[in-house]
Amino acid sequence: RTVYVNGQYLPETEATLSIFDRGILFADAVYEVTAVLDGGLVDFDAHMRRLARSLGELDIPAPCSDETLLEIHRELLRRNGLREGLIYLQVSRGAAERDFLMPDEPTPSLVLFTQEKALLESPTAKRGIRVITVPDQRWRRCDIKTTQLLYPSMAKTEAVRHGADDAWMVHEGTVTEGTSNNAYIVEPDGTVVTRQLSEAILHGITRSAVLAYAREAGVPIRERAFTVAEAKQAAEAFITSATSLVTPVINIDGHDIGGGTPGPVVRRIRELYIEESR
Ligand code: PDD
Repeated sequence: RTVYVNGQYLPETEATLSIFDRGILFADAVYEVTAVLDGGLVDFDAHMRRLARSLGELDIPAPCSDETLLEIHRELLRRNGLREGLIYLQVSRGAAERDFLMPDEPTPSLVLFTQEKALLESPTAKRGIRVITVPDQRWRRCDIKTTQLLYPSMAKTEAVRHGADDAWMVHEGTVTEGTSNNAYIVEPDGTVVTRQLSEAILHGITRSAVLAYAREAGVPIRERAFTVAEAKQAAEAFITSATSLVTPVINIDGHDIGGGTPGPVVRRIRELYIEESR
């Protein structure tokens, strides 16, 4: 696989980053994951807007212009012949002597790589996933897409050890989001409920696209926090992200949702999303 690091396209085995990179030492880095369908980038501009916001919130300088970022994404897809999967981008504050005080004039590092993945014909999308709930023990700026992913990674691992696929995180009784996706339930009258935007969740690019397409199609939407008890009683549940697109949730903490099979609302929303994104 060819990867990109600080201005160079290299075989993955030859790409290097300083061990003093603040991304490694302090998780002082932000990232984006963009879906690739039929060789094209899905919602690229929205991902770059969110990247600019994350960088701004942490005062990390942009590594290059948006046009250059687009060129790098396209070139990496071309060099790897990627038709379907993901492209990962990370910007860190760069290398500096280890110090909690941030450098005055950082030189950001930029890393990109591709991952092949069957997004459209995914078995989990057909079958649905099982989630467990765990306390949300992340820091309180989850709206910034940083690489501080230790807790979500622990939570997903615990879920899989419990025979589930992923975890939904809970803060003060309500579900914030999944470890790497936004969380939704569907009420018996067909209303889709997902948590309102705040610093408690990542402002998912798939989330905003899905809500727009669903609204256009006349699906009733409410943006509000929901409890675990409500989720267990829901008619349907699902998640969204660049990596899962729209994926049904069929079991929460051992309780089957919608009889344990994907329901009509989530199936329709997934179809809508895929149709609009290709
Ligand atoms: N994760 N919430 C969290 C905590 C996430 O990490 C993600 C994305 C999302 C969904 O955002 P989007 O729709 O923009 O992908 C919500 C990426 C895919 C990841 O970490 O791999």
